[in-house]
Amino acid sequence: MGLFITFEGPEGSGKTTVLHAAAAELEKAHHVVTTREPGGVETAEAIRNILLEGDAMDGRTEALLFAAARREHLVQKVLPALDSGAIVLCDRFIDSSLAYQGYARHIGVEGVERINDFAIEGHYPDMTIYLDIPAALGRERIAANQREQNRLDKEDHAFHDRVVAGYQQLIARHPERYTVVDASRAVDDVVTDVVAVIRQQIEKKSLEN
Ligand SMILES: Nc1ncnc2c1ncn2[C@@H]1O[C@H](COP(=O)(O)OP(=O)(O)OP(=O)(O)O)[C@@H](O)[C@H]1O
Ligand SMILES: [Mg+2]
Repeated sequence: MGLFITFEGPEGSGKTTVLHAAAAELEKAHHVVTTREPGGVETAEAIRNILLEGDAMDGRTEALLFAAARREHLVQKVLPALDSGAIVLCDRFIDSSLAYQGYARHIGVEGVERINDFAIEGHYPDMTIYLDIPAALGRERIAANQREQNRLDKEDHAFHDRVVAGYQQLIARHPERYTVVDASRAVDDVVTDVVAVIRQQIEKKSLEN
C-alpha cells in the first residue's frame, strides 16, 4: 500500500522546489504527503538541531545521529502515511547519508549503509529521484538566492564535489533504485519529467496490486 518516493541531489539541485511543485500536480488525483527529514517529528527535530547548529563532531557520531533521526521520522510519519495509502514524497533519505557521510566525509559507505539498514529495516523507497546537476551549478543557485546556510552547506567546494561523485557511484552500483532527471534545465521542465516518472510508478504499482 502507498508509494514511497525520495528526492536526492546536491544542494541547489531543486529537490524542495520540484518536490512541492510535483505534489501540487499529483494532489489533483491522489493522496499525497510531502515531508523531509526530520519532518516535524519532535525527537527527530531535536537530533537535527544538534547536527546542524552544533560544533563540528566526529564523523561517525554524525552518521549515527542522522540514522537515528531518520528512523524516528520513518516510524512516526512515513510508515503511517504509507499505511493510509498515501504517495509519500520525501526530501532526502538514506542516500543522502551514503553520499554525505559515506563518501564525502570519508567514513566509508559500507559502515554508513549498515547503520542505515538497521535504522530503516528494509523500508527502501519504491523510487528515488536523483536531480542531476553539477555541484557548481547548485552552489550558484544557492548563492543567487542567498538562502540561509547550515553547517553542512558551509563545507568547502571539494566536499560538495565529493557528494556528487558519491551519488554517481551509488547510481552506478544500484541503477535500478534511481531515476535520474536532468535538473540543470528550467524548473517547469524538471517538474514535468518528475510528475511523468511518478505517474508511471503509480501505474506500475497499481498493476502489481
Ligand atoms: N531548475 C532550476 N532552475 C533555476 N533555479 C532553480 C531551479 N530549481 C531550483 N532553483 C532555485 O535554486 C534554489 C535552490 O533550490 P532548492 O532549495 O529547491 O534546492 P534543494 O535541492 O532543495 O537544496 P538543498 O539541498 O540546499 O535543500 C532555489 O532558490 C530555487 O528557486
Ligand atoms: Mg531543500
